[in-house]
Amino acid sequence: MPNDARTPPLGASSDWTVPQRWSDYTAQEHAMWDTLFARQSAMLPGRVVPEFMEGLDILRMSKPGIPDFEELSARLMAATGWRVVAVPGLVPDEVFFDHLANRRFVAGRFIRTPEQLDYLEEPDVFHDVFGHVPLLAQPVFADYMQAYGEGGLRAAGKGVLHHLARLYWYTVEFGLIRRGKDLKLYGAGIVSSYGESQFALDDPSPHRLGFNLPRVMRTNYKIDDFQQSYFVIDSFEQLLADTLNTDFDPVYAALSSEIDLSTDSVLAEDHVYHLGTTVYN
Ligand SMILES: [Fe+2]
Repeated sequence: MPNDARTPPLGASSDWTVPQRWSDYTAQEHAMWDTLFARQSAMLPGRVVPEFMEGLDILRMSKPGIPDFEELSARLMAATGWRVVAVPGLVPDEVFFDHLANRRFVAGRFIRTPEQLDYLEEPDVFHDVFGHVPLLAQPVFADYMQAYGEGGLRAAGKGVLHHLARLYWYTVEFGLIRRGKDLKLYGAGIVSSYGESQFALDDPSPHRLGFNLPRVMRTNYKIDDFQQSYFVIDSFEQLLADTLNTDFDPVYAALSSEIDLSTDSVLAEDHVYHLGTTVYN
């Protein structure tokens, strides 16, 4: 995810990447990864879209310890031509978009402490790698992420990045997908969270609404708690096609004269999979 600073911190390259320094991780840090990995990989089968579990297999992510990005990138490169690169923290928007447009996924190298097991403010290596990277081994999702980066580069300087950020938020981070009669998880913010991987599917409180690109781009989101609405795509192919086939300039123009929607709004034209009780809020 992007930030607002302009110059890379000391020790980072001009593209904000840093060496992962895999050999510097301590045994405790590797053990933290293993704890998180064991908990999520027990929770997710049947809840997450099967392509995510396939991605874990393709990338051999069940190997104990924090993944070595070079090893991970070699497998990912063979699958879809993507790589994982380390960054010191949040990076500026255009840096973030440029990496995605060039099929590089930026990941934090630090891992949370035991006190942060269930919540941390900045994404760590578990969120970034376990949450995001398995689906990058899937060609259609990999193409979507590149298309998103290219869209970001085109949108830079137009004052519309908050709209585009909502597309990322409600798909890449907190998206649900329809499979037959069921909904499945695919967003990285959900699949890397023990609490939200239950809440997003099972809790009666949040709305679960059909994905619509301009609608999502009008909708605010919550950064510090479970979502009040989740948006459901029909397929990764649909998400990619919607993104590639949308002329964003008229969408941005229309959005500029519309009022943002609150996190729990439901519109007459929404496809409602589940009307939330909103009790959690
Ligand atoms: Fe993320």
